[in-house]
Amino acid sequence: MIEKINQLSKLAHEAIEKASSTDALYEVKVKYLGKQGLLSTVLKDLGKLSPDERKTVGLHANNAKAELEEQIDTKTKSLKTLEQNQKLQSEKIDVSLPGLAPKPGSIHPINKVMNEMCSIFSRLGFSVRTGPHIENAFYNFDALNIPADHPSRDLQDTFYVDDGIDHEPGKFSPWVLRTHTSPVQTRTMLTEKPPLRIISPGGVYRSDSDTSHSPHFHQIEGLLIDKNVSLSDLKGVLGFFAKEFFGSDIKVRLRPSYFPFVEPGAELDASCPLCKGKGCSMCKHTGWIELAGCGMVHPEVFKAVGIEYPTWNGFAFGMGIERMAVVKYGVSHIGLFSENDLRFLENFKI
Ligand code: DAH
Repeated sequence: MIEKINQLSKLAHEAIEKASSTDALYEVKVKYLGKQGLLSTVLKDLGKLSPDERKTVGLHANNAKAELEEQIDTKTKSLKTLEQNQKLQSEKIDVSLPGLAPKPGSIHPINKVMNEMCSIFSRLGFSVRTGPHIENAFYNFDALNIPADHPSRDLQDTFYVDDGIDHEPGKFSPWVLRTHTSPVQTRTMLTEKPPLRIISPGGVYRSDSDTSHSPHFHQIEGLLIDKNVSLSDLKGVLGFFAKEFFGSDIKVRLRPSYFPFVEPGAELDASCPLCKGKGCSMCKHTGWIELAGCGMVHPEVFKAVGIEYPTWNGFAFGMGIERMAVVKYGVSHIGLFSENDLRFLENFKI
């Protein structure tokens, strides 16, 4: 049995010597010294020996085990150091390499256009007013002379938020997501005294959506109330804006149109900034693009907000900000502004 133990020890010593990793060494340990290991298997027959022999063989086996364990310990230590050094080597960081540049954010193109529009109007003395996005139908429709049966009040166009409360005692008036920025006109005229020169940029909501309409988009509203304001003042202001925004070669024209809160009402067209009026897909080959709805504030609106007319009169206009951005940057479809794909947004970095 001693012979067998010596043989196994020799093999184990060699295997320990050869082991090139802590994992391999562990396997050797299990193979020879483990509970089911080869040495334990040999010692199973220890009981069959005489007491004297048992003592001698037992002692011999314990010494052999102790020697192997010591050799394993020493080897483990050296392999661990080796492995750690290898790891340190492979994970070495070259601190002199340039770092990864952080991607800075930038202003969203819609905000950029909005800021630019506000800054142009502010040079003409307009200052910014804001209003709530959840708006009462009184401000969104009634005070703007939009009749109760006007199609824009239909459920298809307006998101109704609740069934309505008594805005004024006994008067039913629901809450809606504002369908345009025009209610900021009514709110301002009710709280501030003329003369007034305000613009109001912000989000608006309509329940129609397809590739060219989004349920949430942005508008900028303008209102000027003073004495003896004329349609040519309106054309002058919007013409100045168009030239500042698109370039000095832009021409504008007013086309009669209808909006319940202005009389006369008009649509302001600008010569197409992309094709310079020659005709292209952006302007549907007309050479003109629609920029704004506008007109002289309707006497009924003055009545609703309690401003004395014709002592005071004025004009109002409303523009779509996405539309301005589409025309200015020649973007193919409006949805790109709300998808927020970084590859798109990165084109607008300052
Ligand atoms: N509120 C109108 C719309 O959303 C745009 C508009 C037209 C605003 C004429 C005005 C205006 O102030 O005078 O379509």
